[in-house]
Amino acid sequence: MPATPYYLTTPIYYVNDAPHIGHAYTTLACDVLARFKRLDGYDVKFLTGTDEHGQKVEKSAEKAGVDPQSFADKVSQNFRSLAAFMKFSNDDFIRTTEPRHIQACQAMWTRMLDAGDIYLDNYGGWYAVRDEAFYGEDELTKQPDGTRIAPSGAEVEWVEEPSYFFKLSAWEDKLLAFYDANPDFIAPQSRRNEVTSFVKGGLQDLSISRTTFNWGVPVPGDEDHIFYVWLDALTNYISALGFPDEQGEYAKYWPADLHMVGKDILRFHAVYWPAFLMAAGLEPPKRVFAHGWWTNEGQKISKSLGNVIDPFELVEKYGLDQVRFFLLREIPFGNDGDFSHSAMVGRMNSELANDYGNLAQRVLSMIAKNCDGRVPDPKDKLVLSVDTAPTLGAIIGSRELIGRVRELMDRQAFHDALEAVWEVIREANRYVDQAAPWKLKKEDPEKMDAVLYVLAETIRNVTIVLQPFMPDSCSKILDQLSVPTDKRSFSHLSSVDNLMDENSLVPGTPLPKPEGAFPRFQDDEAGAA
Ligand code: MSP
Repeated sequence: MPATPYYLTTPIYYVNDAPHIGHAYTTLACDVLARFKRLDGYDVKFLTGTDEHGQKVEKSAEKAGVDPQSFADKVSQNFRSLAAFMKFSNDDFIRTTEPRHIQACQAMWTRMLDAGDIYLDNYGGWYAVRDEAFYGEDELTKQPDGTRIAPSGAEVEWVEEPSYFFKLSAWEDKLLAFYDANPDFIAPQSRRNEVTSFVKGGLQDLSISRTTFNWGVPVPGDEDHIFYVWLDALTNYISALGFPDEQGEYAKYWPADLHMVGKDILRFHAVYWPAFLMAAGLEPPKRVFAHGWWTNEGQKISKSLGNVIDPFELVEKYGLDQVRFFLLREIPFGNDGDFSHSAMVGRMNSELANDYGNLAQRVLSMIAKNCDGRVPDPKDKLVLSVDTAPTLGAIIGSRELIGRVRELMDRQAFHDALEAVWEVIREANRYVDQAAPWKLKKEDPEKMDAVLYVLAETIRNVTIVLQPFMPDSCSKILDQLSVPTDKRSFSHLSSVDNLMDENSLVPGTPLPKPEGAFPRFQDDEAGAA
């Protein structure tokens, strides 16, 4: 049977600026999910890319004194470098200035036009270049100096120009019916309620073309107009599948299983995008998840405050897997979170170094020292040791783990998925303390072998499950258990009812010299952590 396709996407990032923690966060969440689904046997397509048109990019290029294309080329490269640096496993990288994308946009336009959903009129209203969004007067706050700001804090300007409109108002009922029929379309639940009430409040037709500047996709058949950047940008999700060709990748991967976005851009993905698609006679995506925003040591992150977190610096300071772990472990996914040095060091030292690292290190060193550096042989004591172990939960738990974790990952509950793994890790550490294998060396060496085998197997199972989160460190630990690289997917986890099966560690296998995978972070600032 061919593997089930799974298509997930990040937002495409504006090339007006260097990548920061927010960009790294969204893509990281997708990367972990993509790796998870691959290990679970899916045929995954994971897409990211850059959003290169629009007024915001044009203005940034102007400021830098270069033409927008060269500017986009340069900044887009920084996003690719970040992806490589963070070991993101995206299968494609789309740029909105590529011919394949422009072609898809124009085909999308033609379909919406042919369906009668586009008309020409004049636009007069407020526009925020920073958000690339139109706002109604009632959404704005008037400042003492007479200027207005959007709910996002962005300045708006008055725009008047001829414009094509999309008949969004006609899609209100169909969108509500779609949300009703697909209760998992918008997550988390609180966001779903927000979107539903926004749509219930009434939708206005949306301006979808601009005429006062040129940096965009030309509207087919009217050279005075270019695409409104959000119609252009959203289309990336299908242009990367070869649309308008509806065979091939499009047939295989569309509708997308998941669009991962930040909470600030949910409306575009959960309201405009499904309406555009339905108008064009195409299926809406299956799910949009809106995650929260990070602050830095309690403060909103902003360039003017000078507290932007550079993901490159973060990784250099704390380590890649440590940062990957922290970002998904620290807060329930969907909530806002605060990045602080002490929280980072706290997680590194308690959960990575003390709990997981120490478990692996203790067990592997005992095996190196007492079992001749080979996987111990539990013989018939395996059952005995398991039966008599007060904390039998460790091994059994690790074998049941994937079922729980899978269900949580499908809801993008990364934090809970990690908690489920840590329950097993903590349990395994208690088992080490209670079974005290170091004492058994003299008293009952066979039982010691069985206890250490149980623990090594627990580490193998837990580490296979953790690979998507911390690929390098997990690979290092699996190497130390001599697990062959082609035996590291979820189908190689041990089964619940059989403590030793064809996937389990093979007694007698030589193991390399153990090495710590998770060093403690030590500095004065976090000395107490
Ligand atoms: N170009 C649009 C997306 C088009 S998708 C068809 C865009 N780009 S962006 O570069 O401004 O932002 C991309 C993502 O970064 C958003 O999902 C946003 O939520 C996220 N973040 C920006 N700052 C953030 C934090 N401080 N914390 C977490 N995520 C943040 O919007």
